[in-house]
Amino acid sequence: MNCFERRCAQLKEKPSKWLVTGVAGFIGSNLLEALLELDQYVVGFDNFMTGYPRNIEDVKDRVGPKRDRFEFIQGDIRNLDDCRRACSGVDYVLHQAALGSVPRSIDDPVTTNTCNVDGFLNMLLAARDSSVRRFVFASSSSVYGDSPKLPKIEEEIGNPLSPYAASKLINEVYAGVFSKVYDFGWIGLRYFNVFGKRQDPDGAYAAVIPRWIDTLIRGEAPVINGDGLTSRDFCYIKDVVQCNILAATADNPQACSKTYNVACGNRTSLNELMAIIKKTLRIRGFEVEAIEPVYGPFRKGDVQHSLADISRAKKLLNFGPAYSVETGMEESIDWYVKSSTPAQAQG
Ligand SMILES: NC(=O)c1ccc[n+]([C@@H]2O[C@H](COP(=O)([O-])OP(=O)(O)OC[C@H]3O[C@@H](n4cnc5c(N)ncnc54)[C@H](O)[C@@H]3O)[C@@H](O)[C@H]2O)c1
Repeated sequence: MNCFERRCAQLKEKPSKWLVTGVAGFIGSNLLEALLELDQYVVGFDNFMTGYPRNIEDVKDRVGPKRDRFEFIQGDIRNLDDCRRACSGVDYVLHQAALGSVPRSIDDPVTTNTCNVDGFLNMLLAARDSSVRRFVFASSSSVYGDSPKLPKIEEEIGNPLSPYAASKLINEVYAGVFSKVYDFGWIGLRYFNVFGKRQDPDGAYAAVIPRWIDTLIRGEAPVINGDGLTSRDFCYIKDVVQCNILAATADNPQACSKTYNVACGNRTSLNELMAIIKKTLRIRGFEVEAIEPVYGPFRKGDVQHSLADISRAKKLLNFGPAYSVETGMEESIDWYVKSSTPAQAQG
């Protein structure tokens, strides 16, 4: 039994109450599903700004009777009273609610700031006043900004390149202040590019993996921004769930009030990623071989390369990613194929 399995067994024996903000989104709904599977009590909090009721319904269908341990609060993190209501009586907070996407933040920095900075401060205050055992929050690899250094190490960040990156950096600064001034314990998880089931393929701000899968399933040509040599450390959602649970329940005092890279620790170029997606679809009967991607301009605010050093999370949280891009992609594509309409699916 590894550390994560042991922690899960302990949670099952003695269930706790968790708050997942952003529960109707991609990462939040996967956290919800994992926690309900572990027999935990979960309060979910969301305003459906970029998340969907269908994500929550999907989880409820999957977990069966365990859905009775879930309570949903429709509210906004920009409203302190909503945050206080959500935090009441909670043991652990997994704060995911935020407006994602670098391009969205460049188009609308004010809304990104009110959700990601004002909303974050409200959540910190509400969690502090409810005396939660641990506040774990979603930060981002975007805080590394213009630092060219690879792999990325937690202490060495550059200047943020977008309002989104600035908002995540401010989250970390505020969290640091809360541990100094109020002795409030937190853990910040710098997610690299996360992928997996229920990630939204639609809209102008969709992430690259669901967008490409959806486009290829429809038999259309996906667009690669830049020359295809841009690289990312893609991390499968189940590894992100693992790290959140380990972070919330870590009993090593050294682990607390720190940020951690959450990634797989390997770099994949966009051209390689395209090849992995096409191969995985081809094995499932989709005729995608002849579809060539279209190369477009580089996106403003994007970093060229990203690769995480995950040794801190390994050492202090016992994090051990269990998925490669290839194995995560197989599970993800199976889900996208199942949830696409029969007319779209050829396999
Ligand atoms: N997906 C990634 O690759 C990635 C990478 C780095 C960091 N992150 C961070 O992880 C978190 C979750 O991201 P995701 O990919 O699941 O995004 P998502 O958009 O699918 O989920 C975010 C959820 O937060 C909710 N939300 C937004 N503003 C809110 C508000 N004001 N009040 C209440 N709810 C609100 C949305 O409705 C949505 O359900 C975010 O903080 C994001 O910045 C994600």
